[in-house]
Amino acid sequence: MIVGTPNTRRPLRWAMVGGGRGSQIGYIHRAAAARERAFELVAGAFDIDAAAGRAFGVELGLDPGRCYATHAAMFAAEAARADGIEAVSIATPNNTHFAIARAALEHGLHVVCEKPLCFTLAQAEALEALAQARGRVVGVTYGYSGYPMIEQARAMVENGDLGEIRLVNLQFAHGFHSQAVEETSPGTAWRVDPRFAGPSYVLGDIGTHPLYISQVILPHLKIRRLLCARQSFVKSRAPLEDNAVTLMEYDTGAFGTLWASAVNAGGMHGQKVRIVGAKASLEWWDEHPNQLSYEVQGEPVRLLDRGMPYLYPQARQDDRIGPGHPEGLFEGWANLYYRFAIAMEASDRGEGERLEGLRFPGIEAGVEGVRWVENCVRSADLGGVWVDYR
Ligand SMILES: NC(=O)c1ccc[n+]([C@@H]2O[C@H](COP(=O)([O-])OP(=O)(O)OC[C@H]3O[C@@H](n4cnc5c(N)ncnc54)[C@H](O)[C@@H]3O)[C@@H](O)[C@H]2O)c1
Repeated sequence: MIVGTPNTRRPLRWAMVGGGRGSQIGYIHRAAAARERAFELVAGAFDIDAAAGRAFGVELGLDPGRCYATHAAMFAAEAARADGIEAVSIATPNNTHFAIARAALEHGLHVVCEKPLCFTLAQAEALEALAQARGRVVGVTYGYSGYPMIEQARAMVENGDLGEIRLVNLQFAHGFHSQAVEETSPGTAWRVDPRFAGPSYVLGDIGTHPLYISQVILPHLKIRRLLCARQSFVKSRAPLEDNAVTLMEYDTGAFGTLWASAVNAGGMHGQKVRIVGAKASLEWWDEHPNQLSYEVQGEPVRLLDRGMPYLYPQARQDDRIGPGHPEGLFEGWANLYYRFAIAMEASDRGEGERLEGLRFPGIEAGVEGVRWVENCVRSADLGGVWVDYR
């Protein structure tokens, strides 16, 4: 149980870039980071509008002198303070991630960065090299991977409960952008503009979430080649897609599909992960994250519940409230933020042994997401052909 067993010595002095008032994702970063007192928010450059960002920071209770107009001003000023920030979270539109993350690492900060990590594989690998050279931790907020039932699925595959893995069926298909909502929603407008979103919309924005979950559950599967087709059903979104289907061949002979869509009319999140083995299947749905469906051929379906003693220990280590009470997105994210903090503290203190078995989406997960998007776009733009994964 996390509660009552703090694993970090003190909260890290932490700042945010982006995540200002009205942003979609800023609040959950602050809520998740604060949950185990692993981070304390002491500074920020919260908004593209400097005055709005400063006002917001003051409202959050920060010292007005530590509410900055830009990330550059913040990194410079904080570096000059004895009690300056030690870590920063980046929750801005995609086009800014690379420059802000690079500047943060160059200032010796640990980083939590939103997905997609950046636009190109070359940029992603440059950030990876920089983080390694500086000995800094980079966490990437594939937040849904923090759910305990994902750990259960991983342990079940590892223990052979499913038999040899044959099929991997992934989807994140919501319906919220079935119409051109970007005409009135600034938070959607940048997502369908390649200058801000990068080379893809739904592939990078949502497809990378179930992709990363599949990599957590199935670490032994490596994509050999893939084929992607993408469409812009709202025509003004072209060249960016609002729907995409990717087929994946793994080097074990397993086969995967991933459907990413923002035009699945009537759908809520529609994020599902189904793993089919020779003996049994697992299915997880993020709208019911406390349950995992375990389906053994020829037997009644079993619905496994978070917190229950029959789960593998890996699925119970982050439990806060025992079975029955539902946990949700805040707890899933908080599990990741907690692990980020442990990794950051261990790195600062040279306590490498604390990283043993500590799984979190790090820089390699960010790099892999960008690599996958780049391969999907290459395949789709060649007309939907098989391409070797590279
Ligand atoms: N992990 C997840 O589940 C998840 C969910 C939603 C969004 N995201 C990602 O989070 C990021 C932000 O998405 P959002 O939906 O919150 O966007 P948003 O448009 O709702 O908010 C962006 C915020 O960043 C601020 N901003 C923009 N440029 C800035 C800059 N240069 N310096 C400081 N602040 C700046 C804006 O003023 C705003 O407050 C994106 O990369 C997105 O892909 C991740």
